[in-house]
Amino acid sequence: MILPSERATNFVYAIRNIVQAAEALERRGRKVIYLNIGDPQSFGFRPPAEIIEAVDRATRTKFTGYSHSAGLLEGRQAVAQYASALGGAETSPADVLLTSGASEAADLLLTALVNPGDEVLLPAPGYPIYSAILSKLTVKARYYNLNHKSNWQPSLDEVSSLINDRTRAIVLINPSNPTGAITADETTKALLELAAKHNLLVISDEVYRELCFEKPPTSASVLARDAGAPGVVLESLSKTHMLSGWRVGWMRFVPSAQTRDLKSATLRLAGGRLCSPTIAQYAIEPALLGDQRSIRKFTEEIRTRRDYAVKRVAGIEGLSCTLPDAAFYLMVHVEDMGGRTDEQFVLDLLEASNVLVVHGSGFGSDPQAGYFRLVYLGNEDVLGAAFDGIEKSLRVLAAVT
Ligand SMILES: Cc1ncc(COP(=O)(O)O)c(C=O)c1O
Repeated sequence: MILPSERATNFVYAIRNIVQAAEALERRGRKVIYLNIGDPQSFGFRPPAEIIEAVDRATRTKFTGYSHSAGLLEGRQAVAQYASALGGAETSPADVLLTSGASEAADLLLTALVNPGDEVLLPAPGYPIYSAILSKLTVKARYYNLNHKSNWQPSLDEVSSLINDRTRAIVLINPSNPTGAITADETTKALLELAAKHNLLVISDEVYRELCFEKPPTSASVLARDAGAPGVVLESLSKTHMLSGWRVGWMRFVPSAQTRDLKSATLRLAGGRLCSPTIAQYAIEPALLGDQRSIRKFTEEIRTRRDYAVKRVAGIEGLSCTLPDAAFYLMVHVEDMGGRTDEQFVLDLLEASNVLVVHGSGFGSDPQAGYFRLVYLGNEDVLGAAFDGIEKSLRVLAAVT
């Protein structure tokens, strides 16, 4: 028997781990409605045609061998131009490192930053790849809580109280997965100032910044300049341009002497994976500098779906949620999970309704707090069938306990 590492055992990524239960159900002949993964293509959305055409042309006419480990210059130039137009300090291609999605950026960056025993502050609930990477690196995640009563806004006092001499970074996810909330610019600014004071890196995950139903947040890279904070922004084309499987993302280092050595260390690590897929990097320029109408159209479409999902939640006794301002997720609160942990509730809900959602504790919420996250990218037929199933099953689940 070859035993796997403890590292692998500790690597928990609930959004995909929970799928095993759904697959087992499908083997028993049931048809599952998957509302666990935020992938627009799984719900029928298609990437913008002009990007596919540009990449198709590049495949035939341009260089598609190994690119530089930081990525093709033309892709980095496009990110730099896009970032500079956001405001703040001018970004140069040398401040950009192209990666296989924002996920790889998070992995490379944290690996370049932390030593065992260090601590990193994460939002709870928050996208779980960060805690998974940290446990792989034997680094402690310390959580600052987001609460629906304050519309999921971080508390400066709480973040401040968690900082000690082992703290290395604060992760911001703005807009948030799983809550869909936008952090107010004043709060981000205050967190950046706090980070500057304690010499902490701010890692700002902004993969949903272009998918807002309200005024989008100002990028942390723009606010970082006045705050004097060292920062790295993570972005990708997975959600905004529906190119999740192409694995195109990047990190942008806020230009500053403070991040110079970290940037070199991250690039050194990036050399170990040679490069991110070269072909997909040709999507960046048309996506960031080309026609932006597809993003607006997509945002309007998901706004309609959000409104439908929120209305359905409000109409089901025992369920509630806040109105998300961005992205395509709902954190649903269940008044009574019948004494179950949220994970057991989600598994029982799956069995009873054939609907797969993700338990709140998979994002760092308290397992007893009564949350699950669902993806509302489906059209009214899909969401309608899912909510009908959830509504009926809630009665069954309450009766069983
Ligand atoms: C907040 C957040 N960051 C990063 C990612 C990873 O995206 P990708 O690696 O496809 O860019 C996701 C995916 O769901 C996410 O929700």
